[in-house]
Amino acid sequence: MDSEKILAIIQSLLDKQLTQDITLLQICKILHSNVAHYDWVGFYILDESKKNLILGSYVGKPTEHVNISVGKGVCGQVAESGSTMIVQDVSKMDNYIACSLDVQSEIVVPVIKNGRFVAEIDIDSHAFAPFTERDEDLLKTIAAKISTLF
Ligand code: SME
Repeated sequence: MDSEKILAIIQSLLDKQLTQDITLLQICKILHSNVAHYDWVGFYILDESKKNLILGSYVGKPTEHVNISVGKGVCGQVAESGSTMIVQDVSKMDNYIACSLDVQSEIVVPVIKNGRFVAEIDIDSHAFAPFTERDEDLLKTIAAKISTLF
């Protein structure tokens, strides 16, 4: 499905003003079921200590990584820098936390509220190097739309 259609579905979901948990889970489902190379879609949320990310809503294989320290793995690095990371080949990444041997690539996009990192969208793919500017643009637009939920 093209990005405009996905964004339209997500906008109508946001218009319903459901709870944060339900909204984030629905977004995971929309992305997972409409983009072929999105095999695991989830949100990590910064906890109050600001040193830890906590797994929120997700769709895909359960992961043991429900807590990730800021700075650790791709997720922790994005929490530290506040910048998007695209890893087209996770086997080449040193600071990486493997969730499943099936995962070949990953994109993590920060959610910034009032200039501060509050959460991130994390997507794992079983495909090698599938991410393009289209993914980055789509996920950054979603991240901007949902910042008010935090
Ligand atoms: N691979 C991530 C850990 C989270 S799982 O992908 C769900 C990382 O390196 O931070």
